[in-house]
Amino acid sequence: MKAIICTKYGPPEVLQFKEVKKPFPKSNEVLIKIRATTVHIGDTKIRRLEPGLGPVKDFFFKPVMRIILGFKGPRNKILGMELAGDIEAVGKNVTLFKIGDPVFASTEFRMGAYAEYCCLPEKAAITIKPINMSYEEAAPVSNGGLTALINLRKATIQKGQKVLIYGASGSVGTYAIQIAKHFGAEVTGVCGTANLEMVKSIGVDKAIDYKQEDFTQRSDRYDVIFDAVGKIASSKRKKSLKKSGMFISAFDLSGNIKLKVKDLNYLKELCEAGKLKSVIDKTYPMEQIVEAHRYVDKGHKKGNVVITMK
Ligand SMILES: NC(=O)c1ccc[n+]([C@@H]2O[C@H](COP(=O)([O-])OP(=O)(O)OC[C@H]3O[C@@H](n4cnc5c(N)ncnc54)[C@H](OP(=O)(O)O)[C@@H]3O)[C@@H](O)[C@H]2O)c1
Repeated sequence: MKAIICTKYGPPEVLQFKEVKKPFPKSNEVLIKIRATTVHIGDTKIRRLEPGLGPVKDFFFKPVMRIILGFKGPRNKILGMELAGDIEAVGKNVTLFKIGDPVFASTEFRMGAYAEYCCLPEKAAITIKPINMSYEEAAPVSNGGLTALINLRKATIQKGQKVLIYGASGSVGTYAIQIAKHFGAEVTGVCGTANLEMVKSIGVDKAIDYKQEDFTQRSDRYDVIFDAVGKIASSKRKKSLKKSGMFISAFDLSGNIKLKVKDLNYLKELCEAGKLKSVIDKTYPMEQIVEAHRYVDKGHKKGNVVITMK
């Protein structure tokens, strides 16, 4: 099968398009024919060996990353955390899926989605694709959407509460806006000038341009501030919170994020009810993975960047 191999840590050019052995499902696994994957921020961080915690923390964290992921390059050479596709084969003990089921899934740190096929345990973060979504739209819900949902749930948002989403234009941010609206919040999105109209189109009540002003200088106070890009300085995190307010960060490594199928099914239902959409910035064919990674490395994608498999 065709796959993209990460030969070592480094710039996008370390990614190579290669022919590799097609995987075979174990007894508890499904074999998925992948139709779409994404350039997830996690893929780029692993490729660069850069956790993105700031220069000092990165310096200390890099050796830990090498131990976890592989010393000279990732042990699992096929990156890719988000996918949508069709079940092509099932192991002999699989009961949850059958051949032909359209699914979307997060491979999490197993990676492996930059390929024509991938095997996952049937009990991994995998479920049936929303009926009204294309493979391209469904793939990023599996991790970006799930990250937004699991983080926002920490705050148990009540109807009418004021929620500020910082970094509202990224993958997590665009899903977080729509999920917070679904929870009944009054949502303020903070993003750059070029994305103001986009975040309004997916439901924010107010949009603040971080390039023009610092939201903490306003007198507004929020019940929840969700930093979806991990860019709010720690000194400013509490400034605009109400006394009983809660600060959440998508970057919180201490947070025990466990991707669960029941949450994925919850998102599927939101998608099918027309309450959750994927913002797709650009779509590239698999052969243009290097260009796609170059684009995401710039740090300004709007929503998601998708890779399609032919
Ligand atoms: N995506 C996931 O599934 C996932 C899962 C777990 C953890 N996380 C963590 O969540 C964070 C966000 O991930 P992501 O995938 O959503 O990122 P992303 O899509 O790559 O974020 C890009 C967006 O961030 C905005 N941005 C950049 N700098 C900003 C700033 N200073 N202020 C406000 N907005 C800014 C950019 O808007 P401008 O162009 O206007 O700057 C751009 O639209 C990362 O730290 C990641 O490690 C993500």
